[in-house]
Amino acid sequence: MSPPVSRRKFLGSAAGASLALGLGRGSAAETSASTPAAAPITKPVSEWPLWDNRDETALLDVLHSGKWGRTAGGAARVKEFEAAYAARMKAKFCVATSSGTTALLTSLGALNIGPGDEVIMPPYTFVATFNSITASFALPVFADTDAATFQIDPKKMAAAITPATKLLLPVHIAGSPADLDAITALAKARNITLLEDACQAPLAEWRNQPVGTFGIGGCFSFQASKNLTSGEGGAVLTNDENFANLCYNFHTPGGPKPAPSLGRAANFRLTEFQAALLLAQMTRLEAQAKTRDANAAYLSELLRQIPGSAPAALAPGCTRSGWHLYMFRYEAAKFAGLTRAKFLQLLAKEGIAASSGYTSLNTSAHVKALASNPHYQRIYGKKTMDTWVDRNQCPVNDRLVEEAVWLSQTKLLNPRSEMERIASVIAGIQKRAGELARS
Ligand SMILES: Cc1ncc(COP(=O)(O)O)c(C=O)c1O
Repeated sequence: MSPPVSRRKFLGSAAGASLALGLGRGSAAETSASTPAAAPITKPVSEWPLWDNRDETALLDVLHSGKWGRTAGGAARVKEFEAAYAARMKAKFCVATSSGTTALLTSLGALNIGPGDEVIMPPYTFVATFNSITASFALPVFADTDAATFQIDPKKMAAAITPATKLLLPVHIAGSPADLDAITALAKARNITLLEDACQAPLAEWRNQPVGTFGIGGCFSFQASKNLTSGEGGAVLTNDENFANLCYNFHTPGGPKPAPSLGRAANFRLTEFQAALLLAQMTRLEAQAKTRDANAAYLSELLRQIPGSAPAALAPGCTRSGWHLYMFRYEAAKFAGLTRAKFLQLLAKEGIAASSGYTSLNTSAHVKALASNPHYQRIYGKKTMDTWVDRNQCPVNDRLVEEAVWLSQTKLLNPRSEMERIASVIAGIQKRAGELARS
């Protein structure tokens, strides 16, 4: 039922499989004139997360201070992290939260999204995007995927708007920005609030501006598999002081900021331990991102030469992907009908852990169950909920979930030679596909 769970399991097993083969241990990235140079790799890169004495000292400092939470009189680390992350992402304000989900819940709460409101979201995402909407008793409406980028299609978003639409919630899936030119233009033209689910997208940029502040704000996750992690954690970024204050007051009971109360709030605070870890993790974030940038560009160059393995395109305004995942489309027809499942098995045999990625969220049992949820039937009416499943059909996404292949972000932290090995294994399978498909 839960594609995200499989994503997380995959991210865990991807690390495990690579580790078993000892890939990437202590080697340095090679460089070539054709793609940007990767930062040198000096640590094992198949494990995740990476940590050293910086993280250890940071955690012990918090432990010894006795000030472990935002309300414990200290809050030094949480505040420091909020300032550092806002500065790094070129945002004016940051409110740290306990997870990406609670960053979304905080934002939806601050926007007072609730029963009767429709929120437009993509089907190609982690279920938490959906859950944050239903936890607010708003109605999630799916807008189909763009076949080339795997991101939400702005034209389908426009078509999904009704008078009840209160929020556009695109997701920067895999860390690559959705088409923010088209989406911001749509939000402006229709006067609808835009919030970015940037949970997978720290450091991602659209026209050289980090994501998260193209609408009212952006939500980030620092969960265990993420490129910037504290095990669990999250943040809301915004340039809007009033929204920042509303978020602050929502995420902590009795929030002290000057903003009118909406009568809704929660406790979604990040701890000092998590903030200390995030600050330590941030010291290596850029170097890791540079390695991923170079390796992803190189791998795409190589995969594009193999018929039937098409890397997800970056939308034209994307100046940097966060590379939380490396995604490509596997076209079985160009591999003599060799199924994706067999293709993945063959990769695994060569020590290349890859995943089939998300299953179809909009047609999943979890999503369909909403149609018969008594609260939803009462709020929206039986007729609306009966037709809701049909309204959410996403044929482009249906095909994508059958064809996508993912590599984890840790794969992109391996030496450049590993990208060559991945491509040559895939090229080898492609050449022998007819025979392999029959075996
Ligand atoms: C696109 C997306 N949205 C929301 C979330 C929720 O974040 P968290 O797991 O930190 O609650 C995630 C995390 O995996 C995500 O990938």
